[in-house]
Amino acid sequence: MTRPADRPTPDRLLREAAARLDRRRFLTVTSAAAALAFGVNLPSAHAADAELTPRAIGDDPFTLGVASGDPTPESVVLWTRLAPRPLEPGAGLPPAGSVRVGWEIARDERFRRVEQRGSARAHAEFSYAVHVDVDGLDPARTYWYRFTVGPWASPTGRTRTTAPRGHRPDSASLALVSCQAYEDGYFTAYRHLATEDVDAVFHVGDYIYEYGIDAAGGDRHYTDRTLPAHHNHETTTLEDYRLRYSLYKNDPDLQAAHAAHPWYVTWDDHEVENNYAAGIPEKNQDPAPFVARRAAAYRAYWENQPLRMPRPRGTDLTLYRRVHFGRLAQFDILDTRQYRDDQANGDGWQYPTPESDAPARTLMGAAQERWFAEGLRRSRATWNVVPQQVVFSRRRNTTAGPSKLSMDAWDGYPAARERFLKAVDRSGVKNLVLLTGDVHVAYALDVKRDFDDPDSRTVGVEFVGTSISSDGDGEQKPSNWTTLMAANPHMKFYDGRRGYTVVTLDRHRARADHRVVSHITRPGGTLSTAASFTTEAGNPGLHPA
Ligand SMILES: [Fe+2]
Repeated sequence: MTRPADRPTPDRLLREAAARLDRRRFLTVTSAAAALAFGVNLPSAHAADAELTPRAIGDDPFTLGVASGDPTPESVVLWTRLAPRPLEPGAGLPPAGSVRVGWEIARDERFRRVEQRGSARAHAEFSYAVHVDVDGLDPARTYWYRFTVGPWASPTGRTRTTAPRGHRPDSASLALVSCQAYEDGYFTAYRHLATEDVDAVFHVGDYIYEYGIDAAGGDRHYTDRTLPAHHNHETTTLEDYRLRYSLYKNDPDLQAAHAAHPWYVTWDDHEVENNYAAGIPEKNQDPAPFVARRAAAYRAYWENQPLRMPRPRGTDLTLYRRVHFGRLAQFDILDTRQYRDDQANGDGWQYPTPESDAPARTLMGAAQERWFAEGLRRSRATWNVVPQQVVFSRRRNTTAGPSKLSMDAWDGYPAARERFLKAVDRSGVKNLVLLTGDVHVAYALDVKRDFDDPDSRTVGVEFVGTSISSDGDGEQKPSNWTTLMAANPHMKFYDGRRGYTVVTLDRHRARADHRVVSHITRPGGTLSTAASFTTEAGNPGLHPA
């Protein structure tokens, strides 16, 4: 077997992992963990991979749909992954080898005016995923794309490049989505999102959940199929995470939303494990096997998303990045999970203490904080939009006296929030819009310069998008609705149903339309708009639209 010079050895991988860990604890790593760490760092795809003939594939390999992502004015990433038997380990393809995949991108849906075509190899090493970074496209243009293997053609996807550099378009629109627990219900919200007229979708995390999914698909209550038993345990290995993505990507509603729009994705916690923090697992188990688990999860994430980011090496994957819609909007897409300090006070909702208030605590990590502040300083955009994971604004859950706060959200990292707001102040940015997920409800909030003082300046707005499916059907006014609205005067809206938020930006205002679906535990839920808000450029603060 050939072994390229750059192939990392198990020893080197473990040394790399060890550098992040307490050495004494690291030495207790089991051989199983060592094997796992090695297993997620296989050699880079190389020419020696035997090419499979289409006959070796047997069935239609395009069961996971297509996707596009990270568009710029002249490029976009096209994605698919071959999986003739998506719900089986290995997805019905050999454990070694490669497949030649054709792709084409056109100016029309019928592919009469093909702009570019080519081929890429899908390697077993990356579970036969394909990422094609198509360059040389026109700005602000809609394109259609598809893939072929042997006699099979993929579904057609539609995508769109962003506005030309330096140009300020009249308007742009996006959808904010998050939190799609498969076992909590149907992705009906995505079926509706596929018909929206938006330039792009921003997914701010919990694309998968790690918990086991039973044969009936949990609250989907399937009667027409039975999910294999290997989906019914918590994901910890690379194979587990790959299978989980296959199950999700096999969903027709999710496929429709990917095929309809380009996506910019970032993760939160459940792509790995609930409420993990950097290299620290949820319940403070041994961190060494957790780092290997995280590496497997990050790798499966990369394999299954239309990301331009280089494939992961070692245990990390850089995901934070900056996107421009001309000079209308700058998006700083954050990663508040990979570099954060552990949650203070044992996590959950707790009273603030000197531990949570410690000035050195970070949610973004020092390098990302510097990158963010520098990006704001250089920004010339009308709108500075920050798609990120956890709720930024203060959320008290009582109207009287001290309140417990969420230790996993920015409320648990107040010094980091203060540095964020100082960076906004110093940059002179006037039009801050935070786009958030995580909490499975929708909020619209004024971002106050000092959340302890309701009369302090409003420095921006925060739109929290509800979940696509997590927590089931939900209800318009959850049990704590009255308390939260009264305890947080900067909270202008709170709705506990499933859905997504459409944000439209123009030169004068930003508008958010909170869409909700009637139900998701049965198919066929209908869509409505629960509320709409605007904020004026140069004069931040929410107004009902
Ligand atoms: Fe979630």
